[in-house]
Amino acid sequence: MKAKKILFAAATLTAGALMLSACGGGGGGSGSGEGGGDGGLIGVAMPTKSSERWIQDGDAVKAALEEQGYSVDLQYAEDDIPTQVSQIENMITKGAEALIVASIDGTTLSEVLQNAADADIPVIAYDRLIRDSENVDYYASFDNFVVGQQQAWSVLNGLGLVELDGTPIEGAPEGPFNIELFAGSPDDNNATFFWNGAMDVLEPLIDDGTLVVKSGQTSFEQAATLRWDGETAQSRMEDILTASYSDGTQVDAVLSPYDGISRGIISALEGAGYSVGAEWPIISGQDAEIDSVKAIVAGEQYATIFKDTRELAKVAVDMAVALLQGEEPEVNNTTDYDNGVKVVPSYLLDPVIVVKDNIQETLIDSGYWTEEEIDG
Ligand code: GAL
Repeated sequence: MKAKKILFAAATLTAGALMLSACGGGGGGSGSGEGGGDGGLIGVAMPTKSSERWIQDGDAVKAALEEQGYSVDLQYAEDDIPTQVSQIENMITKGAEALIVASIDGTTLSEVLQNAADADIPVIAYDRLIRDSENVDYYASFDNFVVGQQQAWSVLNGLGLVELDGTPIEGAPEGPFNIELFAGSPDDNNATFFWNGAMDVLEPLIDDGTLVVKSGQTSFEQAATLRWDGETAQSRMEDILTASYSDGTQVDAVLSPYDGISRGIISALEGAGYSVGAEWPIISGQDAEIDSVKAIVAGEQYATIFKDTRELAKVAVDMAVALLQGEEPEVNNTTDYDNGVKVVPSYLLDPVIVVKDNIQETLIDSGYWTEEEIDG
């Protein structure tokens, strides 16, 4: 019995070593390779390293899986769809037992996910819902509609109209306030959720004249920012400032769905002669990226939405491990995330609004960022 166990362990080790050497350097893109463990290989596909949050997500998922004894093939696709498809294809070839995927374009993975299903590999959509495929088993994310509402509430809070939870402030200024609207990438399912949540809050105020969108660009299509790209947002903001604000009127607020987009908007404002102080607009964000937390401290950005990537990683990893152990993953939403083919059972975490006053409580006390990182 004992000898058998040792033999088995040796065989597993050899298989692991073989797998490691077979996979070394493979995969293309900028992967960080596999970690050790004898629980089998799990493929983790992340969209890009150009945004800090995905690096934190990837690191947290990898660490949590390794802690549970799994090997991890973590790959980043630099926002290139064919690269992500071939990275996932590779993971399947290498014998991955489960896949955790944060997609670039939620609609482009149907074929590769069919291959995963044919090989009985469960798939967990990470933060972004994968659309148009029945082969998505579970979805780990935050309540994305609430994220959008929070972004809108944070903007209105900066204008003195509501508390951070959306409660109207008595005796608030009447406005009107000039606001411009930005949305995320149209191929990311989350972008419409954020937009719908935000517009649920802002539309009544646009309709009653409290908020004025001088550019007239109030549709999702007009506001969308392909690949969440900061430079794209910067040039759209520059165009808006030139076309609608050259007459000396000021932008009072900008709805931004993501910190990288907020940084582009800030650059456009600086380029147009705005400077932090009384006339500087209220700008929202998302992800609590370190540069944007610094921008909040400096008064350039008013707020961000903190989505703890450590918690999200834990949820996704628990889902994968449960599935591999033949158990049912815990979910808390079975109605809202229809991917076009089916409603994907989801676990949604709670997002938190961060403004200058609660950075300590939300980000530092939780250990997400240290004071040194924020001040440095
Ligand atoms: C979304 C995600 C946001 C933000 C954005 C850009 O899918 O939910 O938190 O990271 O992508 O990366």
